[in-house]
Parts: sequence; structure tokens; C-alpha cells
Amino acid sequence: MEREGSGEEETKQIPLLTPYKLGTFQLSHRIVLAPLTRQRSYDTIPQPHAILYYSQRTTKGGLLISEAAAVSETAQGLPHMPGIWRKEQVEAWKPIAESVHDKGGVFFCQLWHAGRVSLQDLWPDGYYPVSSTDKVLVGAENLQFKPPRRLNTDEIPHIVNDFRLAAKNAMEAGFDGVEIHGGFGYLIDQFLKDQVNDRTDRYGGSLENRCRFALEIVEAISNEIGGDRVGIRLSPFSNYMEAGDSDPNALGLYMAEALNKYGILYCHMAEPRVYSYEETPEAHSLKPMRMAFRGTFIVNGGYEREDGNKAVDENHADLVAYGRWFISNPDLPRRFELNAPLNKYDRGTFYTSDPVIGYTDYPFLETSS
Ligand SMILES: Cc1cc2nc3c(=O)[nH]c(=O)nc-3n(C[C@H](O)[C@H](O)[C@H](O)COP(=O)(O)O)c2cc1C
Repeated sequence: MEREGSGEEETKQIPLLTPYKLGTFQLSHRIVLAPLTRQRSYDTIPQPHAILYYSQRTTKGGLLISEAAAVSETAQGLPHMPGIWRKEQVEAWKPIAESVHDKGGVFFCQLWHAGRVSLQDLWPDGYYPVSSTDKVLVGAENLQFKPPRRLNTDEIPHIVNDFRLAAKNAMEAGFDGVEIHGGFGYLIDQFLKDQVNDRTDRYGGSLENRCRFALEIVEAISNEIGGDRVGIRLSPFSNYMEAGDSDPNALGLYMAEALNKYGILYCHMAEPRVYSYEETPEAHSLKPMRMAFRGTFIVNGGYEREDGNKAVDENHADLVAYGRWFISNPDLPRRFELNAPLNKYDRGTFYTSDPVIGYTDYPFLETSS
């Protein structure tokens, strides 16, 4: 006789693999593809090879966040990153979004403005990238950054509008929503952080003033596409790209509370250990921000299978985003389910422009040796 219901124990899922309702989206698990720049969108146009890349990483009911996409021509900072300001770019995103949807995934577009994190060679003589400041980024990893030009107060609404239009374009391209890139030293972070922001107008000085630009963008985009389709990424503890803050706890908490006013879908925070993407300086906690924010809370940074499970189990987060492990393991949710070994990632090909190598050639479980 067949035994009924006896499989219950075996099918009991680890916390990361439990379903979650993200606003109107029904997710089947909590493992999110973190936004990952791969510099393979030649001349700002998303390429057909991205169809395979994203669809490899799609699961039914899984959330994927796209690589950072520039919101305007002047938002660019590094070569071969995609844009979302021109018709041609919107058209090129369409089949990529479609392939994610074909497999039942939920796809958000990360909207980005580089600000002063902008390479010297990218711009003609006489053009200067814009920022909250005119302090030049000294440079990391032998990169030469162009000195920025401080935005005038009356230019700021135009940048906010660029974000709004980009969000509109993202919806037209078929994305399910957008994630505003407010972290890791790019333009929005250049306003948020007091190591960079040296303004004396209403966008500088107090915490409230430094957060104004970010919140204006949140408001404009929410009005355009609906707050239930908007997320934001923040990294208050990071000092990546020389954008640190003297009181990251206060900054993170202020933003978490202020965001509630707009009813946005999610807040995606980098763990304090993600100091400069990968380093691990000291232990702080995102708990106060998690408690203060009333939407979905996504955490990221240095997570493995076990601490990801723990984060969900202990209500530290609703969802956990994985970056590097998802680069090298297109079937990461399945591997976590089976507790299978992971492919190692190759840093050497993170940002190379090859359409296959280090991009779509990481093996799935079946073909791993
Ligand atoms: C190759 C690479 C590209 C990245 N590109 C982006 C990006 O476009 N936008 C962003 O917000 N973060 C970006 N990040 C940061 C990741 O989303 C993530 O925060 C970081 O890798 C830490 O998470 P992990 O420990 O799971 O890898 C990138 C990281 C890597 C390694």
C-alpha cells in the first residue's frame, strides 16, 4: 500500500526556498540575482548574449535584478554598460525581459547614474561628469577618473527627471519594476554620504538635505510607475569609491524611515561587511533599518547558503541577493536546494567583454565534473 503524506519531512524546504509574496509578485523562493555589471553591452546597447545569460539564471518565481543601466547619456561611467534612455536600448532590452518572463521570472531593472565614477577616456575634452561635488575621485585599481563638475541646484530636477524617464522606459522594455541604485559611491550615494557631499544648498549639510535627492527620485519614479514596482539599493556602511559616511547607522535609519512615505516595494541593503564590495571590516547590524522599513527587505553581501537561511529564518531579511555565487552558478537555487557544491567564480572575467567566456559558460549541475 502507498504511504500518504510521509514525504512531508523530505520535502520540507530550507528557509531560502520558501515562497514569498513580494507585493503583487508571488515568488517561489528567496534567492535573488543581485545586480551585476558585466560590461558586455557594447556601446550601451544590451546584446543578444544577455538573453542566454539572464535566462540561465531565471527560475519560475525567482527575482532577478539587472545589471546597472545608465539613465541618460551623461549617467555613464564605464565602457560597455547598458543604457535605458534611448529607443534602441529599450528595444534591445525587450527580448531579454521576455526570456526571463518565458521562464516565469520577475525582472527588475537597476537604474544608475555614475556621477563622478566616470572614466577619463569616456568623455571628450571639455566635458565633465556631474556630481554633488567637484572633488575628484582619486582612483582605484589604476582607473583614471575625470574631475567632476558640481551640479547647480537648478540642474538637479533635470537629473531626477532622467531617472523618471528611464523608469518609464524600463516598463516599456518589459521589466516588472525598477531598482534605484542608491549605493556604492555612484551619483545618489555622492549626495547621501558626507565624505563626498560638500554642498551648502538644500541638497547638502544635514542628513535631511543629503537624502533629499534620493527621495525626490523615489517620489518621481513612484508617481510614474507606481510605488509597488519600485525598489532602492543602499549601502550606508560602504566606503566604495571614496563614498563613506561618518554616521552610517543614522543615514541608513533615516532613509529606511523616510522611504515608508512613498510605499515602495523593497529596500535592498548591503551588509556592513560589504565595505568595498568584498571586504569585511567590522560587524554592524542592519536590524534597525530592517525594523524601520515597512516594505520587503533584501540583504546582500558575502552571503553563503547557511547564513542566507539563517537571515530568513531569524527574520533579518525577507530575501537574500547573491552576486558572485550567481555569476558562477547559473542554477544557484537548485544547488542550494540540493546542498550541492558550487562552481568557483573567476574574477578575471567579471568585467571582460567576451560574450561567452566567464559569462554564459559556467556549468550547470548536470554537466559539472
Ligand atoms: C562583477 C560585479 C559587478 C557588480 N555590479 C553591480 C551593479 O551593477 N550594481 C550594483 O548595485 N552592485 C553591483 N555589484 C555588487 C553586487 O551586487 C553585490 O553587492 C556584491 O557582489 C556583494 O555580494 P556577493 O557577496 O553575493 O557577491 C557588482 C559586483 C560584482 C562582483
